[in-house]
Amino acid sequence: MDDTQIAGDLSRVLFTSEQIAERMAEVAAQIDADYRGKELLLVGVLNGAVMVMADLSRELTSHCRMDWMAISSYGSGTQSSGVVRILKDLNTDISGMHVLVVEDIIDTGLTLSYLIGNLMSRNPASLKVMTAFRKPEAARNAVDVAYVGFDIPSEFVVGYGLDYDGHYRNLTSVATLAPHIYS
Ligand code: PRP
Repeated sequence: MDDTQIAGDLSRVLFTSEQIAERMAEVAAQIDADYRGKELLLVGVLNGAVMVMADLSRELTSHCRMDWMAISSYGSGTQSSGVVRILKDLNTDISGMHVLVVEDIIDTGLTLSYLIGNLMSRNPASLKVMTAFRKPEAARNAVDVAYVGFDIPSEFVVGYGLDYDGHYRNLTSVATLAPHIYS
């Protein structure tokens, strides 16, 4: 689904599918260079990271493995509390592996802080984070993110895996919603 097909739902397109594809290829090239000679395990955080995982992994020129986690964060309304419950754990024993967590968005960074602590306790050889989008609060919280696709303003955005009430994940671009959709 592209933004022209749901133009009435959207306020502003932040990134087109072409801009996202171009940036994912740049980030993948950086990851390729950084992990040369090492085998990487990409850990996607469901559900939002499905799109970025699919695109990023296919831009890599070396072998990688993939695994998935599903987590749910407790919080009031849209506010993340950082208290996280694992709904689906990894199938892989990551001890001794080079792990790259793949996220769609980092907002407060609280989910990621929990996840990093949890995964570090499993003794990976290395652990880094890639996110397609990052909001300013995460940058302020000094969450250590090795690869960022785009730093974005603190607005509610949808598309490329990011949802509103379960919809818009399959929007190929990233956009802000028109107020009539959520008010
Ligand atoms: C999103 C995103 C991160 C988290 C970031 O997931 O994928 O996991 O929120 O928020 P934080 O930095 O404030 O902790 P969400 O809970 O919306 O689930 P989803 O991926 O299934 O949409």
